[in-house]
Amino acid sequence: MSGDARIGLIGLGTMGAALASNIAEKGFDIAVFNRTTQVTRDFAAEAGDLAPKITPTETLEDFVAAIATPRAIILMVPAGDAVDGQIEALKPLLGADDLIIDCGNANFHDTDRREAECGVPFLGVGVSGGEEGARHGPSIMGGGDAALWARVEDVMTAIAAKHDGDPCAALMGPGGAGHFVKMVHNGIEYADMQMIAEVYGILRDGHGMDYDAIGDVFARWNEGPLESYLIEISGKVAHARDVATGDPLLSVIVDAAGQKGTGRWTVIESQHRLAPVPAIEAAVVARNLSGRLDERAKGQSIFGTAPQPFDGLDHATLEKGLIAGKILCYAQGFEMLSAATRDFGWDLPMSRIAQIWRQGCIIRSSMLDDMASALDAEPGTNLMFTDHFAALLRDTHGALRQVVAQAALNGHPTPALSSGLAYFDAMRTARGTADMVQGQRDFFGLHGFVHVNGKDDQHGPWAKD
Ligand code: 6PG
Repeated sequence: MSGDARIGLIGLGTMGAALASNIAEKGFDIAVFNRTTQVTRDFAAEAGDLAPKITPTETLEDFVAAIATPRAIILMVPAGDAVDGQIEALKPLLGADDLIIDCGNANFHDTDRREAECGVPFLGVGVSGGEEGARHGPSIMGGGDAALWARVEDVMTAIAAKHDGDPCAALMGPGGAGHFVKMVHNGIEYADMQMIAEVYGILRDGHGMDYDAIGDVFARWNEGPLESYLIEISGKVAHARDVATGDPLLSVIVDAAGQKGTGRWTVIESQHRLAPVPAIEAAVVARNLSGRLDERAKGQSIFGTAPQPFDGLDHATLEKGLIAGKILCYAQGFEMLSAATRDFGWDLPMSRIAQIWRQGCIIRSSMLDDMASALDAEPGTNLMFTDHFAALLRDTHGALRQVVAQAALNGHPTPALSSGLAYFDAMRTARGTADMVQGQRDFFGLHGFVHVNGKDDQHGPWAKD
């Protein structure tokens, strides 16, 4: 038996409910199911004008029966075992042509495995934009077979954010490609957020500014080259007040950052791909370190408070430093995507990725529009070497150096900005210092080195001992 619903969605948590409402609002009939029936009832009761498009169901059997064949079913359940469990529960109820679409934050290795092994047509789709994005237009990174994607492309493009009418939804490649791109998006998100937090620290503890004044700085920067969702919300967060006390919100938030793991996955995967993403690594490390509250307090009591007040970095220098840091962080992320194209035989659409990140997702920014143009004009080129961004870096890297140097001299930890700068300097040093590392390796292990005359597997004089 099959019903009329164009699509089904399982998992009416915050993101699932928002996505289901978005789908219904765009005119698609949708069947919904949640493990806890009351959640489904509440969702249906609050659907308002969208109610005629929504079929709430209370058993998996009724859910499956409500969807038109061949079925397309979106999973919005927590990443990990819950996805496997849900697939197993669905399988006996599905036909051979029915399609499961995992729209959660899955690890792309799991997506590859599920596509190969689950025995049901399967797509792994990365969705970014938080609740607001899911409800009114996320950025959507599809992964899997092109013919399967074509079956739901109309829904995906209808619900996606639009940039000048262009939907922020596209197929990234086969298997786990969509979730891979979403993972790297999140890694970039971590680094972008961390760099902003580091500049916030300089404004607060170095310049002694109050929260409202800091919020004003971010609001002003959001009118310029740094215009982005993350700068915008940083200004709003700085201006916000605590509901309970009326104090500035930031003053009551414990500075220990949470994480669900996608940034960590990015770093682990980057190591396997030999794709350096030091700014993302620094951001993940900073989150891990932020949780060591007791040790940090102990360190402060032993060594004294690190960040000292100082003048000497004007806001224009901080803004330029942040621009340079941001370019370098995105350059690293896009290089990691290139490495995946190379290693996995994918053909990740680099400039299209920048395009679909222009709206809807957490890292959306005006700079991504220029990144899309640069990656389109100079395919295969590291973003930092493209004409547009090389010119921007020429103009801003001195400011980044000033920020990092002044921060270091005055005890302000700036791990992401510092590693962005180190990446920049390493990437413009034609002859670095790995000759010493190779010499050491050869000395203690006869590992061999490549001679500048072109011969490989050469050894130092100790080889004859
Ligand atoms: C998005 C976000 C989202 C992510 C949150 C929280 O693109 O919408 O990346 O997928 O889950 O930002 O991530 P952390 O808890 O790891 O900070």
